[in-house]
Amino acid sequence: MGRPVNVGVVGCGVIFPQYAETIERLPELRLAAVADLDLARATEAARPYPGAEALSVAELLADPRIDVVLNLTIPAAHAEIALLAIAAGKDVYCEKPLAATTADAAKVLRAAAGAGVRVGCAPDTVLGTGTQTARKAIDDGLIGRPVAATATMMTPGHEHWHPNPDFYYAPGGGPLMDMGPYYITSLVTLLGPVATVVGAGSRTRDHRVIGSGPRRGEKIPVAVDTHVTGILAHASGALSTLVMSFDAAATAAPHIEVHGERGSLVVPDPNHFDGTILLSPVGEEARQPLPVLAGHPGAGRGVGLADFVTTPAGQQPRAGGALAYHVLEVMESLLASAGSGAAVTITSPCERPRPVSLPATGGPENPEPGAAVPGA
Ligand SMILES: NC(=O)c1ccc[n+]([C@@H]2O[C@H](COP(=O)([O-])OP(=O)(O)OC[C@H]3O[C@@H](n4cnc5c(N)ncnc54)[C@H](O)[C@@H]3O)[C@@H](O)[C@H]2O)c1
Repeated sequence: MGRPVNVGVVGCGVIFPQYAETIERLPELRLAAVADLDLARATEAARPYPGAEALSVAELLADPRIDVVLNLTIPAAHAEIALLAIAAGKDVYCEKPLAATTADAAKVLRAAAGAGVRVGCAPDTVLGTGTQTARKAIDDGLIGRPVAATATMMTPGHEHWHPNPDFYYAPGGGPLMDMGPYYITSLVTLLGPVATVVGAGSRTRDHRVIGSGPRRGEKIPVAVDTHVTGILAHASGALSTLVMSFDAAATAAPHIEVHGERGSLVVPDPNHFDGTILLSPVGEEARQPLPVLAGHPGAGRGVGLADFVTTPAGQQPRAGGALAYHVLEVMESLLASAGSGAAVTITSPCERPRPVSLPATGGPENPEPGAAVPGA
């Protein structure tokens, strides 16, 4: 690559500093400009980064120096900003979910295909050593044929710590749309694409109370289910059971467990890049921690953007638009099933993303194709 890829960020809220830190660290990326609806916020966000210019959203999108737009706006604005970036001829990498609805996400993917630009999407946490080591353990046959998984995220809700938590309770929010992308992307990475879902949901309160920041004590409305549970039938035949809740004080359940014919794996938090993987072979009492076997060591939010800009033309980036669309369709279908009581068939095609080797065994650009699920 001749020069670093110039990144223009739209949306300078809570998550922005994590991306900025990674972009500053990675030689293939350069933080060139930032924009926000609130220009003062963009100006403040740019201050620690002398190479980054604070611009209006229109100026950033029209700037020929910007190669890729990093869309860190709230979910309800993801499609609007992505479509504007695509219309300006730029590649776009979005925070999750890809859009608030599959209808909007489909518009984004169609527009990108028409314009000859690419779409990538968070989460990239699954490219870290946690999910990738678990995936390698499965691919290497350590648990035999995978038959089932559980994925559990139960908290009291983000209004306790986020100063502007309104979007978590607006359409496109809720525990499933907010945290589901981490868990479902991890499940697809581990077990392959989903064929059918069955869901159920509930809503305990019609409002929430902000717990921190200048708006502390303010009531916000709840327009989404705040406890969602469901079953994902993977194309491989494995069945995942999912519980995503903003209605629980706490849980002692592992974030993800995968069970195979010859053993079980505890998989670390898919909202983090690393963590310990525990293997329980059938017939052995003790759980064995596995060494780090795969993934980007020491990664942070933005590693998926680096993968996106360095993926050769004709290949799907690991954190690519097709995968994000599939995950969004799974989530939307779980909610549709919760409403109708009927199972929903998933129609979007999705390849299991290519694995990430440890740098010493092939590097982040490893050429291995997406491996099939053993026994599938
Ligand atoms: N907060 C977290 O811990 C976290 C973690 C991972 C991912 N995310 C994701 O990151 C995204 C942003 O979350 P956040 O917590 O930073 O939100 P936030 O509300 O703190 O920040 C969003 C920013 O986007 C700006 N914005 C909104 N609409 C815009 C538009 N149309 N044009 C330009 N700017 C616009 C807002 O002014 C705000 O500054 C969401 O998709 C969220 O799911 C957040």
